[in-house]
Amino acid sequence: RPVDPFDLVIFGATGDLARRKILPALFKRFCAGQVPAEARIIGAARSDLSVQAFRDLLTASVTEYAPEHVREPGMLDRFLECLVYQKVDARSAEGWGELAALLVLDRVRAFYFSVGPSLFADLARRIREYGMVTDQTRIVVEKPFGQDLESAKALNATLASHFDESVIYRIDHYLGKETVQNLMVVRFGNMLFEPLWNSQYVDHIQITVAESVGVGGRAEYYDRAGAMRDMVQNHLMQLLCLIAMEPPAKYDPDAVRDEKLKVIRALDPVKPHHIVRGQYVADPERPELGLGYRDEVGNPRSRTESYIGLKAHISNWRWAGTPFYLRTGKRLVARSSVINVRFKDAPHSMFGAQPGQHSNVLSIRLQPNEGITLQVTIKEPGPGGIQLTDVPLDMTFAKALGPDGRDPADAYERLIVDVIRGNQTLFMRGDEVEAAWAWTDPVIAGWQSCGDVPKPYVIGSTGPADADLLMKRDERRWRGIN
Ligand code: BG6
Repeated sequence: RPVDPFDLVIFGATGDLARRKILPALFKRFCAGQVPAEARIIGAARSDLSVQAFRDLLTASVTEYAPEHVREPGMLDRFLECLVYQKVDARSAEGWGELAALLVLDRVRAFYFSVGPSLFADLARRIREYGMVTDQTRIVVEKPFGQDLESAKALNATLASHFDESVIYRIDHYLGKETVQNLMVVRFGNMLFEPLWNSQYVDHIQITVAESVGVGGRAEYYDRAGAMRDMVQNHLMQLLCLIAMEPPAKYDPDAVRDEKLKVIRALDPVKPHHIVRGQYVADPERPELGLGYRDEVGNPRSRTESYIGLKAHISNWRWAGTPFYLRTGKRLVARSSVINVRFKDAPHSMFGAQPGQHSNVLSIRLQPNEGITLQVTIKEPGPGGIQLTDVPLDMTFAKALGPDGRDPADAYERLIVDVIRGNQTLFMRGDEVEAAWAWTDPVIAGWQSCGDVPKPYVIGSTGPADADLLMKRDERRWRGIN
């Protein structure tokens, strides 16, 4: 279903995120017939670009990031017609009057802040000063939303002084991933899982977001942030919330976000010995795999972690006693994001199975190969008597989606359409972000105060050995990364 014609202003339109994600996502939705030809995408940045130069930039970016769509005849030319460019400078009056004049009355006007948070205040002020706020205005902001609780509060206060919370869309692109949304439907749309979804039946939950890439071109940002701020405070916390939250009464933004917030607030402080920090190092036997972290970021004494493994506890009625193990890292053996819910053993095995030998595991795979499998124990088929074996009940979406197994829409496609439609369910509310920082801040302060040095792990491995020990101490183990 197409959305109504809208104006979308992208501040930072020539930047990396716009080129890699936002513009290709808009183009893909255009090809799918969801973005109408009357929509206008207004690139706004400090560079002095002609409209044609901006269109060339878009052409280059979609050719790289949405090549199969570029091949659809005529689509790119039609999409380019939607594009406009306006030079503006957040720190001066330049270009703002012209930008305001471009906007059409009576349609949704979304302002996408694809810029560093240091510019949020200036942008917000100019938007208001130049009379661009209507009852159809939406403000989209990207992470990082601050680098600690204090800065996040300041950003929230700045935004709140210009806009109502109901028009602010804080992006966490993990919430736009197909399986992440499906997680809510699987949990709350079936009778099967929810009665077992508590500490009485769930032994533990593992959330893994493994990446094979390194810090790439973002060394400066990353070396200040580290994995805790870059991934745990947002993406992993959001996954944890969706896995652990109580059923909201409706699929409605505040109903969902209220429940997520309760999870974050129920998290116990993490104990220092329940956290492992790691930093990747080059593999001397396979130097072709790349540079170690410190060389890559050009900071030989860096103590920034590129890996985190931790054990969290949620102190509430449902989860008391069930640990949540979270891990994320760069330059690991594979790109693989999975949530594993491991159920307890049956109370007694009439087949003589050893404890822990056969258990049900619900695996929710975010990427690649989005899908859900449930490991169940069955009899090994054949005449060999009763032998137990574990097989997956497989709900891989690519197969279900069609014979061509096309990838589900990219997270940004879904989220941008939600912005235009005015649906905040998959966006973080200000209090959620603050609660997440309130949980991560003491952890970061803890290792800063004791000068903690991250444990080395070799590029292409599964992370530091201490992360395995974290599990082993509890007589558990990580499931493989693949
Ligand atoms: C971003 C982080 O938010 O998410 C990056 O800043 C990370 O460091 C990326 O690589 C991972 O996203 P995805 O969608 O590739 O899993």
